[in-house]
Amino acid sequence: MAKSLLFPLFSLLLLNQAYSQSDYGFIFNGFKASASKLSLGGASLITPNGALRLTNTSHNLTGHAFYNTPFHFLNKNSHDSQHPTTASSFATTFVFAIVPRFAGGSGGHGFVFTVSPHKNLSDGGRANLFGLFNEVTMGNFSNHLFAVEFDTVQELVRYGDINDNHVGIDINTVRSNASKAASYYDNSCKSSHEVVLESGNPIQAWIEYDGAQKIVNVTISPASLPKPSKPLLSLAMDLSPIFKESMYVGFSAATEKLASSHYILGWSLKMGRTEADPLDLSKIPSPPRNGTPSPGLGRRGIGIGAASAMVTLALLLCGITISVYMLRRARLAEVLEDWELDFPHRFRYKDLYIATKGFKESQIVGKGGFGSVYKGVLPKTREEVAVKRISHTSKQGVKEFVAEIASLGKLRHRHLVHLQGWCKRKGDLLLVYDYMSNGSLDAFLFQENRNLDWGERFRILKEIAAGLLYLHEEWEQVVVHRDVKANNVLLDSNMNARLGDFGLAKLYEHGKNPSTTHVVGTVGYIAPELSLTGKATSSSDVFAFGAVLLEVACGRRPLDPNASSGKQMILQDWVAECHERGHILEAADPKLGNSYVKEEIELVLKLGLLCSHPEPQARPNMQQVTRYLSGFDPLPEVNASSLGFFVGSLDSKTDSHPSSYGVMSSGSLATGR
Ligand SMILES: *[C@@H]1O[C@H](CO)[C@@H](O)[C@H](O)[C@H]1NC(C)=O
Ligand SMILES: *[C@@H]1O[C@H](CO)[C@@H](O)[C@H](O)[C@H]1NC(C)=O
Ligand SMILES: *[C@@H]1O[C@H](CO)[C@@H](O)[C@H](O)[C@H]1NC(C)=O
Ligand SMILES: *[C@@H]1O[C@H](CO)[C@@H](O)[C@H](O)[C@H]1NC(C)=O
Ligand SMILES: *[C@@H]1O[C@H](CO)[C@@H](O)[C@H](O)[C@H]1NC(C)=O
Ligand SMILES: *[C@@H]1O[C@H](CO)[C@@H](O)[C@H](O)[C@H]1NC(C)=O
Repeated sequence: MAKSLLFPLFSLLLLNQAYSQSDYGFIFNGFKASASKLSLGGASLITPNGALRLTNTSHNLTGHAFYNTPFHFLNKNSHDSQHPTTASSFATTFVFAIVPRFAGGSGGHGFVFTVSPHKNLSDGGRANLFGLFNEVTMGNFSNHLFAVEFDTVQELVRYGDINDNHVGIDINTVRSNASKAASYYDNSCKSSHEVVLESGNPIQAWIEYDGAQKIVNVTISPASLPKPSKPLLSLAMDLSPIFKESMYVGFSAATEKLASSHYILGWSLKMGRTEADPLDLSKIPSPPRNGTPSPGLGRRGIGIGAASAMVTLALLLCGITISVYMLRRARLAEVLEDWELDFPHRFRYKDLYIATKGFKESQIVGKGGFGSVYKGVLPKTREEVAVKRISHTSKQGVKEFVAEIASLGKLRHRHLVHLQGWCKRKGDLLLVYDYMSNGSLDAFLFQENRNLDWGERFRILKEIAAGLLYLHEEWEQVVVHRDVKANNVLLDSNMNARLGDFGLAKLYEHGKNPSTTHVVGTVGYIAPELSLTGKATSSSDVFAFGAVLLEVACGRRPLDPNASSGKQMILQDWVAECHERGHILEAADPKLGNSYVKEEIELVLKLGLLCSHPEPQARPNMQQVTRYLSGFDPLPEVNASSLGFFVGSLDSKTDSHPSSYGVMSSGSLATGR
């Protein structure tokens, strides 16, 4: 230890550089009179009440602050020729506050404490790199950068961030060598408590490096609490190859679209020791809140005796209330990535949380292919909505998907379920739709106690066709639905049919290898060419619509593994068989009895077969489909020879179906369920 303290004195003479000498460290209980001791870069400044502000909440800022003079971070080992130098022990502690632009979170990107060979970080730009690096310099060993990040934005894919509220140890890059969710261990029960970095509250951090043990420890806690004895991070790491002889210590932060004000309120550092001099928290300034400075912390050192006991109790209660409040706030806090602000129709997570009573089980009104649907009432407008919660573990393609969803928000048609907006929250994507009080068509067809008469069924089919036609041909771009089925047809309070979930399947197709037949959709509705190419088209939507036509007319699912004897398992084949025998009406739903319009149901059944043609080119488009359904154009003759593929399957009962509706292929399909 003595050696490490003496060495700087020598080097001062040898290198003729102005190293800081005063007790070989420093202490700032606030920065009011300290501007001359710091090199401030970028947007950083010292506020009138003595806080060091790295950035405010404007966009595209970087701010750095370094202690003016460098320190010696390497000790000479005269006895060890293999390792001529080793990194010196050092310890620092500081109090910081991150005040996001919008109360309750959604700021960015956090800040770092850094030990750097230079204090000129003007090449470093990007906010998600804390202004330390640009994309080129990041990761280069020549950076010689040690940093501890206090990170409030998750960039999982690019930088492997564990969450949007973490502390990490970084070497030359922001991909942390160790990181943990921001929290502290309490001294008694060893359990850890979350610390919300961007709460705006003062938080104290300790960073200690033991040069002999070669261990870096990082500890944080709310500034009102004493230092926890167990560090948050304790990483065995030799910093000798990272440090240079002469290094600067300081802080860096940057903002982009996401922005927070980053404040350092007090700072102490000691070289050659593993413990920094404690800060006097009664002297340090408070972080301004909403631009208005508040009086000093003054939470500590308040007298002794009974008064103090009462104060302690009050503080304890207050602390519990605050932690409960903070936990709740953290749960609801908005956490945005840069790109999210670009897209319209974004909902606040908090509103959706309140609307669905915290995504309560009892609010679930449906479980679809991609997630659960919750009924909710928006807090402000009291409007009923359906919130679809999609959990996706892979973040790939989410941005593109949201871009698309946001553009789909512009789609308006009386036979489409209106998508009001979206919200991304960690692994979840939440889509907000108009609430459809009568649920799905599926339920009306297959639930015992419900029924639809033929008139309603025929009207509903025409309405779905109109919605699909709009998606395919009438909007500014072609939107392939990708998951047309009875379950995705919803009925509003007036029993009007509306098609839901358009475009959703695409989320699951992103990033998939197109050479594998990994098809998203629902077995029985997947066109044969789709299972081969994996490419959804408007004509594969027509195929699925064909299945819905048959389903509604027959009251049977497209694929029925429990089909009673004499009925084929595959609905299309069965209808074709009935048609072939000249008794297509035998396929009609028994629930209808005889109360249907013969011409209409025949039309629907035959059109269903036509749409189910295995050759995509042979299927009508939605324009033609609507014309047939409304009687504008007569349906062309649909018979076994015009749909040649059916005949083969009828000749021999043992034959496997040459048509590709086959069960054979469905086994290999991932249905997204
Ligand atoms: C942030 O600071 C910059 C200068 O550093 C100033 O131009 C800008 O107006 C400030 N923004 C806010 C929101 O205070
Ligand atoms: C911030 O920088 C980004 C990209 O460099 C740019 O697109 C954006 O317009 C800038 N924002 C402001 C407010 O200057
Ligand atoms: C800091 O870097 C900028 C650009 O890289 C350079 O122009 C400037 O001279 C540097 N300043 C110092 C003090 O090194
Ligand atoms: C790292 O930086 C050094 C010096 O700036 C440069 O010569 C080298 O090419 C860089 N290496 C990489 C992999 O970028
Ligand atoms: C930090 O992690 C990176 C990659 O995970 C590794 O290459 C590097 O050696 C680590 N650095 C130290 C000092 O352990
Ligand atoms: C770091 O933490 C470990 C584990 O708590 C402890 O044993 C060690 O003494 C600490 N080192 C320093 C320098 O604080």
